[in-house]
Order: sequence, then structure tokens, then C-alpha cells
Amino acid sequence: MRHELLVFDAYGTLFDVAAAARMAATRPDAGRLAEVWPKLAEDWRRKQLEYSWLRTIMGAHADFATVTAEALDWAMEAQGLGTERGLRAVLLGLYDQLAPYPEVPAVLNALRQKGLRLAILSNGAPAMLQSAVRSAGIDGLIEACLSVEEVTTFKPAAVVYGLVEARLGVAPAQVLFVSSNGWDVAGAARFGFTTAWVNRSGAPIDRLPHGPAHILPDLTHLPEIA
Ligand code: LAC
Repeated sequence: MRHELLVFDAYGTLFDVAAAARMAATRPDAGRLAEVWPKLAEDWRRKQLEYSWLRTIMGAHADFATVTAEALDWAMEAQGLGTERGLRAVLLGLYDQLAPYPEVPAVLNALRQKGLRLAILSNGAPAMLQSAVRSAGIDGLIEACLSVEEVTTFKPAAVVYGLVEARLGVAPAQVLFVSSNGWDVAGAARFGFTTAWVNRSGAPIDRLPHGPAHILPDLTHLPEIA
């Protein structure tokens, strides 16, 4: 065994961030969303991340639930859906119960079978993380859900990655950090974690200092490098 603890990013790594818009688009009352949901999902995610970084730079932190709702408001207005308050509530409700990517439960089980400790370190606010982990049925496999709210700033600030040793007592050299976000991988690698980048979309590698130690197309083969 090479690592003692695996630390996962949540959104986009374990939980499918496009699932809320995709599921809402299948409702009989979906209207225009049935057509525009991929663009809405993409804008929602992009604005959510931008707002997290911009609020950090501005010194104007708000929790990820607030940032997520504000990003959704922008994305809905951009698609001419700005006045659909019912749809907004549906989308935010679905975001609290995002589906995990299909391989996630089996892979987490396999990692636990190998005796590895598993945790989440996420921008998510504690309540949204607990809800997603429970609805994905992986709460029995994850020993701790660490939220940036303990330090009231967002990834990739170094102080966030420091929560792992502070809360779980594991030194950075014993941690494998797993994220689908290249910028998160860069922050984690700079901090001293070994990193695995989950490149689900076949994106180019981010031109940031501190690239990933491993690149995986999804989580399936993670137990082989853990
Ligand atoms: C998270 C976001 C950044 O879970 O994906 O931290």
C-alpha cells in the first residue's frame, strides 16, 4: 500500500455536477430547459467556480451553497429562464442529491477492502456535502467530509489542504489527493500531496505549476495506484 489516506474532491469527481440540470430537463414541465440544459449546466459550474475564486480574492467569502445559487441565477438568466422560480428551486434541490458517477460506489468499496482510509475535502458547505454523500449511499465508506467552511476560504488556498492533517492526523506525504479539477490538483500538489487528476472529458492539462502525478480517465483504476 502506497498511501494511508485517499482524499477526494466532491463535485465533478465523485458527484456528477451536470446531473441536476439533466434530471430537471426530463420533467414533463421542463419547457425550454429540455433543449438548453447542457449549456445551463456548463455555465452554472463555470460561474460557481469563478465566483468562489473571485470572492476569495475580494475577501468576500460566502458559503458554497450561496455561491452555487448565485451562479445558477446567472446561468438561468443567460438562458432566458431568469423568472422561473419553481425551476430554480427544483435545480437547487437536485444539486443536494447529485448522482455519483457510475463507478464510484464499487471503487470506494474496493479501496476500503484494501484497508485505505477515505475522506472528502470540498468547497461544499457541510449540509450540502452530507446530503450528497447520504443520497449517493457512500456515507458508510467515507470517514470524514471536510469542508472549506472551517477556514472560510475556497480551494486552491493552501490553508484548505492543511485541514487534512489537522483533522485526520495524516501527513501530506501519506495522502493521495484525487480531483477532476486541474486547478485543485495543482493546489494539492503544491501543498505536498501526491495527486491523481481524473480527466473525464479528455481536457488539455492545465498550464499551472505542479501537475498531477497520475492521470486517470475515471476512477475505475484508482485502486491500482492507491
Ligand atoms: C469541490 C469542488 C471544487 O468539491 O468541486 O470542492
